[in-house]
Amino acid sequence: MPLLLSIESSCDDTSAAVLHNDNLLSNVTASQKVHEQYGGVVPELASRAHQQNIVPVVDAALKNANITARDIDAVAFTRGPGLLGSLMVGVSFAKGFSQALNIPLVEVNHLEAHVLAHFIRENMEGNAPSFPFVCLLVSGGHTKIILLHSHFDMEVLGQTIDDAAGEAIDKAAKIMDLGYPGGPVIDRLARDGNPNAYKFATPHIEGFDYSFSGIKTSFLYFLRDQLVGDPLFIEHHKADLCASIQHCIVGFLLQKLERAVKSCGAKHVAIAGGVSANSALREGVTAMAKRQGWHAYLPPMRFCTDNAAMVGIAGYYKYLRGEFADIALPPYARG
Ligand code: KG4
Ligand code: ZN
Repeated sequence: MPLLLSIESSCDDTSAAVLHNDNLLSNVTASQKVHEQYGGVVPELASRAHQQNIVPVVDAALKNANITARDIDAVAFTRGPGLLGSLMVGVSFAKGFSQALNIPLVEVNHLEAHVLAHFIRENMEGNAPSFPFVCLLVSGGHTKIILLHSHFDMEVLGQTIDDAAGEAIDKAAKIMDLGYPGGPVIDRLARDGNPNAYKFATPHIEGFDYSFSGIKTSFLYFLRDQLVGDPLFIEHHKADLCASIQHCIVGFLLQKLERAVKSCGAKHVAIAGGVSANSALREGVTAMAKRQGWHAYLPPMRFCTDNAAMVGIAGYYKYLRGEFADIALPPYARG
């Protein structure tokens, strides 16, 4: 059974992992610091950093797994969605690697990879959800409620009609000048704040869809009004502001998720993607599952934000199905 090398380069993390079947042997990620000073990912700088990082990252992944390139049976890569220039680096590397070693290529969709991260095993142990289960996928670029009938039979029950949840959190952080990415900073500062200090309304959207652009705008206007009377308002109320905006966004996410799980009668609920690292969301999903008698699945923190281990597990299941990719496949930006 296969030893698989996987590559992730869709945004600003260069990552490589080695899996033996569904068991993770190594996972190495180089995060790019260069974007911090710009308050967001600069695509051109991201591609350049990927080019610098990819060879040492793959090298380290092979070393940590105690194997050499010749031992690898297949190479999986993120084909999209993501930044084209960033994807191109991982895609080209994977193709070169497969050509050089004469091994098959497996293309992976980044969103499917986030969701399938729940199936990664380490030291032969894991906590995989049973089918069917509902997964809230929340990242910097995507917000979707997905019903999984099987590994690749994913039915989208609802999704954002504008901004992603992570994007809204990052923008709120940017308005408060907290740095990029803002999610982890807001999470940390919110711990010392009162989540009910300020109320921000959530929009009424049909069904299981979301919208986050209005929340972001009302946060911006609220701050603008406060700053007129007190230029140090943000400085003085940072913790309460973080706790309140996080409470609003997480509450909205949970409210729709709960309705969606109920509507399809599933008993298993999961979260995935960068925002699933958020402590309020993790606590909220755990409490919801307890109240409803469901099982909750929270990915280990290291598999929430972008990583190649999740690309590897998705690649493994595709490998089992004999789904190999043609060398000519281009990356795609939108999925
Ligand atoms: O999945 P991911 O690494 O990249 C995309 O595929 O987009 O997600 C990145 C997002 C960013 O918006 C980041 O602020 C958010 O995940 N994030 C968090 C936390 N950690 C990362 N948001 C809230 N709380 C966190 N602890
Ligand atoms: Zn991602």
